Amino acid sequence: MPHYGDVQNAIYIAGLSGVVPEWPVDHAGLRARAEAHWPPSVRDYVMGGCGDEWTQDVNATAFRHWGMVPRMMVDSAARDLSTTLFGRAVPSPLFMAPIGVNGICTDDGHGDLAAARAAATTGVPFCASTLANDPLEQVHGACGATPAMFQLYTPRDPDVAASLVSRAEGAGYAALVVTLDTWVTGWRPRDLNTGNFPQLRGHVLANYFADPAFRALLARPPEEDPHTAIMTWAATFGRVLTWDDMGWLRSLTGLPIVLKGICHPDDARRAIDMGADAIYVSNHGGRQANGGIAAIDLLPAVADAVAGRVPVLFDSGVRSGTDVVKAIALGADLVGVGRPYCYGLALGGAAGCAHVLSSILAEADLLMAVNGWPTLRAVRDAGALRV
Ligand SMILES: Cc1cc2nc3c(=O)[nH]c(=O)nc-3n(C[C@H](O)[C@H](O)[C@H](O)COP(=O)(O)O)c2cc1C
Repeated sequence: MPHYGDVQNAIYIAGLSGVVPEWPVDHAGLRARAEAHWPPSVRDYVMGGCGDEWTQDVNATAFRHWGMVPRMMVDSAARDLSTTLFGRAVPSPLFMAPIGVNGICTDDGHGDLAAARAAATTGVPFCASTLANDPLEQVHGACGATPAMFQLYTPRDPDVAASLVSRAEGAGYAALVVTLDTWVTGWRPRDLNTGNFPQLRGHVLANYFADPAFRALLARPPEEDPHTAIMTWAATFGRVLTWDDMGWLRSLTGLPIVLKGICHPDDARRAIDMGADAIYVSNHGGRQANGGIAAIDLLPAVADAVAGRVPVLFDSGVRSGTDVVKAIALGADLVGVGRPYCYGLALGGAAGCAHVLSSILAEADLLMAVNGWPTLRAVRDAGALRV
C-alpha cells in the first residue's frame, strides 16, 4: 500500500541525479518564496492579520508547547490516515480551509480553480469560499471526485443568502460551512496602511455577480456598471448571525451545517443543541480578532464539550504534518490548512498547491510511522501533553 511518506523516497532518488524539488517542502521556505513572488497588495492581504498580529503568530507557535510521546515496538509499517467527511470517504483528515482571495493568489487570477484541481489530484477536500474569482459551480466541477465544502459569508439580503446556499447544494457540495466571525472586517493594519481591500477593487466577487438574486438587486448588470455592483456587494455583505438564525439557516438547506469560528465550549454545546452538524474551531487565523489565545489551545475544551456527538473541524496555525497530527491528538477530526496552501498556489498553481498538501501529508504519515501510531485512533489515544 503506498503511503504519503513515500514521496521522500522519490525526492532522495531524484537527488542522486542532482534533481531537487522545484519548491521547498518546509513552511518557512515556502512562505519566503511566496512573499517574494506576490505583489505587495496580495502579500499583505494574505500574510497580514488583525492588530499587531499577536494571535496570528501565536496560533502557529503554540503548537510547540504541545508534545507527543512516541511508542515503540508497535507495527506501524502500514498507516491508515483515512476518515470520513460527512459520510464521504476521504484518504486523510486534511482539508483546505476557505480562503477568500485564492483567486488572486495565482498569477492567472484563477486560484480557486487551481485549489480545486489540487483537491482532485490529492484527495484533500477544498472548502470553497463565498469570495472567489470563479463561480462555485465551476469550482466544484474542478474538484473531480474529491468531496468539497462551501463556506458561506451570510449576506444581509435573505434572498441572496438563500440563492447562494441553494446553488451550493445544487452544485454538489457536501456541507455548508457558515462563518460566524466575519460580518465585519477585523482591524488589519497592513491593509489599512495601504488602503487595500481587494473586494472593493472588484476582486473575488464572482459568486455574487453570477447570482440571480444578487443581480436582481441591480438596475444594471455588473458587466455594465461594476462600481454600483461592488457597492451593492459591500452594502449586503455581512449579516450578524445569532442563535435565533439557526432555524432559518436550517430551512435553507438539507446539507450538513458546519459552524466556523466556535472557540468556547458553551458555544459548541449550544450549537449542537440548535442542530449544527459539525463544529469548526478557528479564530480565522488571527485575521479577525487579536484575542491572544491560540486556537490550538482552545481546541481540547471544545472537543471535550462536543464529546464525539458531531465532527470537530479545526484550523488556525497549522503549518506542517506534525501540526496536523497534534490537532488530531487534541480532538480534531478534520484539520484545515490555510495560508500554506496559498503559498503553493502562488509558486505553482494547482501543482504547487498539491505539492504543499503532499508535503504536509508526508510529514504526518512519517511521524505516525516513527512514533508507533498506525491509525488516527492511535494518535487520538496517544494524546498530547502541554510542555
Ligand atoms: C487571506 C485569507 C483569506 C481568508 N478568507 C476566508 C474566507 O473567505 N472565509 C473564511 O471562512 N475564512 C477565511 N479565512 C480564514 C481561513 O479559513 C482559516 O481560518 C485561516 O486561514 C487559518 O489560519 P492560518 O492560515 O494562519 O492557519 C481566510 C484566511 C486568509 C489568510
